Amino acid sequence: MDEKLKQVEQILKKYGQEQLLDGYNRQPGEKEKQDFLNDILTIDFAQIEKLYEASKKAKDFSKSKIEPIDYVDKSKLSKKEYEKYSKIGTEKIKEGKLAVVTMAGGQGTRLGHTGPKGTFDLGLDSHKSIFEILCDTLNEARKKYGVDIPWYIMTSEENNEATENFFKEHNYFGYPENCITFFKQGKLPMLSTDGKILLNEEGKIKEAADGHGGIFQSMLKDGVIYDMKSRGIEWVFIGGVDNVLVNMVDDVLIGMAEDKKVLAAGKSIVKAGPKEKVGVFCKKNGKPSVIEYSEISEEMAAETTPDGELKYGESHILCNLFNIKAIEKISKMDLPYHVAFKKAKYLDKDGKVVTPDKPNAYKFESFLFDAFESLDDMAILRVKREDEFAPVKNAEGVDSPETARKLYTDFHNKSKK
Ligand code: UD1
Repeated sequence: MDEKLKQVEQILKKYGQEQLLDGYNRQPGEKEKQDFLNDILTIDFAQIEKLYEASKKAKDFSKSKIEPIDYVDKSKLSKKEYEKYSKIGTEKIKEGKLAVVTMAGGQGTRLGHTGPKGTFDLGLDSHKSIFEILCDTLNEARKKYGVDIPWYIMTSEENNEATENFFKEHNYFGYPENCITFFKQGKLPMLSTDGKILLNEEGKIKEAADGHGGIFQSMLKDGVIYDMKSRGIEWVFIGGVDNVLVNMVDDVLIGMAEDKKVLAAGKSIVKAGPKEKVGVFCKKNGKPSVIEYSEISEEMAAETTPDGELKYGESHILCNLFNIKAIEKISKMDLPYHVAFKKAKYLDKDGKVVTPDKPNAYKFESFLFDAFESLDDMAILRVKREDEFAPVKNAEGVDSPETARKLYTDFHNKSKK
């Protein structure tokens, strides 16, 4: 018998994942069978076992000391302070010390768009896609600062090819091609409720993107950190793809981080209410942190200060700035995983494709902001929602193309005046 098959059988037996042999038997040819075995050998089964055990325990913040975080309100900076930060940041940008990363590995299932989220047509008269809208900001910055800012786009296994093709077809939206780099994020198998790795429709391992916390390791592995260093980059703005008002080139943010001698800075907006689906910045055991909306308790989300504001009201909008030194350090660390319970199509033991109508599978994701705790401090800059936050998350209602279009149009009409 094939040595590799024997080795795989032993591993699967050890970890109680023998159902995967079914996938092996279903592969049509010898090459596919070998590929399947190789896929299995790349899985860290001990890690999967630990993740499954952890999925049964609720997040417990009771042992951590959680406190609100200090922030600086951009609109309340004195003229002197504003100019100081702006001058420092402008110099850094002009010297070519800034790079921008867009995280576009997510699938955008909530939006109901097939294809990478960045390719979504927001429905403006111009019919610009989200990627083009983001690129506009960089093209403007090129003119303003006289420098080409390197743009790195994180994709996933599922959407990398479609993303690269979209940029090619649109001639990179007029941005210099040698300043755009794509790199892929990692993936992890999905598990059934009894901890078994699922097979996908083709009988292969059912995998999903492993969250944006893997960005730092992917940047190391794919040579992005090396590339940034060889270009002399000092500051890296990392933002999500789904905010059409994301301000990726902010001299004040960079200047503030430099002036406060911190290795990271994040932008916040005031949380609209206890139930808004945003993470919030806080201090956890004295270190900067974010509590995600899916993990904060109702009581904590509703706590108020004596003047009636939400105690945990500094919303995290996935607009964060990292010093290259922080990125290098974090790229060598393992971040914790969070579990999500999702609907996932799979192949059952009779070879039938099952399309569930309710969540059936665990997906594991690490979050970029869990890296904040490894930094002693970070600066938070509170910005105005109407200037910097127009998320496109859901097909209808809140945070939909309709609400984002209105925010985008209002902002651009205002800045023309
Ligand atoms: C996210 C933040 C939340 C924040 C809110 C603001 C997370 C986990 N939470 O919530 O704290 O308040 O945005 O809008 O991010 N992505 C990847 N790879 C992945 C997963 C996501 O690149 O594996 C990208 C997506 O393409 C998107 C961004 O990360 O650009 C946000 O992802 P999403 O899962 O939609 O986060 P939210 O739940 O909206």
